[in-house]
Amino acid sequence: MSIPLTMRRATPADKEAICAIATAIDPHDWLPNAFEWAVGLKEPDGLFVGEMEGRVVACYVMDVPRPGEGFLFGMRVDPAVQNAGVGSAFVPLQIEEARKQGIRNLFLTSAYLNFRAHHLVEKFGFHKRGEVVVWPDITDVKLTGAPVKARPARPDDLPKIEPFRRLHMGDVAPSQFSAYTFVTLAEEDWALDGLWVVDGADGALDGLMLTSRQPEYLVIRRLEGSLEAAEDLLRVAAAKLRSEGLKSMEIGLPTRCEVLLAPLGLDPRKPDRWFLFQRKM
Ligand SMILES: CC(C)(COP(=O)(O)OP(=O)(O)OC[C@H]1O[C@@H](n2cnc3c(N)ncnc32)[C@H](O)[C@@H]1OP(=O)(O)O)[C@@H](O)C(=O)NCCC(=O)NCCS
Repeated sequence: MSIPLTMRRATPADKEAICAIATAIDPHDWLPNAFEWAVGLKEPDGLFVGEMEGRVVACYVMDVPRPGEGFLFGMRVDPAVQNAGVGSAFVPLQIEEARKQGIRNLFLTSAYLNFRAHHLVEKFGFHKRGEVVVWPDITDVKLTGAPVKARPARPDDLPKIEPFRRLHMGDVAPSQFSAYTFVTLAEEDWALDGLWVVDGADGALDGLMLTSRQPEYLVIRRLEGSLEAAEDLLRVAAAKLRSEGLKSMEIGLPTRCEVLLAPLGLDPRKPDRWFLFQRKM
């Protein structure tokens, strides 16, 4: 059965409908608080709605962090019409919009247990690219002591960093904006600013940490290497948190690297777990 769904950019007048859909799905949904920001996004970014017979029944956001690369998030279908084909009509329209904007790689994340969403996006050509764990808002870091071996990366480290970059998620890495967003790996993601390393034997590296500094918090975007090196690198992050008056830390890593976070003593119930999906266009 084909669903008569049309899509357009959202306007401020859509606030009530979008917030009603989001809160019906989850009373703590972030989207209502972010509505003004989302509706103000400028092309090629944007908040879009899906309409059926003049009624808003779905929405999503597209972010284009750099030319050719798009990130979809915040897809919501009105619970009153879920599981009736709306999502299946909506996703192709989203892909079409991305294509119109010259996107060649389209990404989205979906929570581990959101099987319906996985099924839906896989039906339209998205493939799982990796598993990601995100720890939001870490304010209490118990790790103390000065780092022993960790040092800021230097230009001559860059060739050694390449193997670390390719280890787990191929050419995909967390972006600099927040631990929740993911973009393809671009050279500027690996600028020396925010890169820390631990030297190993024979001139190789034993550990690497990629961070970015936001006004009020620090993001750890990559942590690779031995347990010992990771602990030393995390001491750098913990010391920055304390000495630079930051409110919190956010960590977004390939799940494979989660074990390296043990020295922080984090609450294992806190992180969000996602699959990262990619669709080549
Ligand atoms: C996920 C969501 C967008 C899907 O939209 P929808 O309109 O319900 O989707 P459709 O009805 O078009 O398709 C649902 C598909 O999932 C299948 N499905 C339903 N429950 C499922 C489950 N538990 N496991 C696997 N597949 C499931 C349906 O059979 C259907 O597949 P089919 O068309 O091959 O038969 C919608 O349910 C939603 O808004 N959920 C809450 C917010 C959310 O999770 N957003 C996605 C973030 S990535």
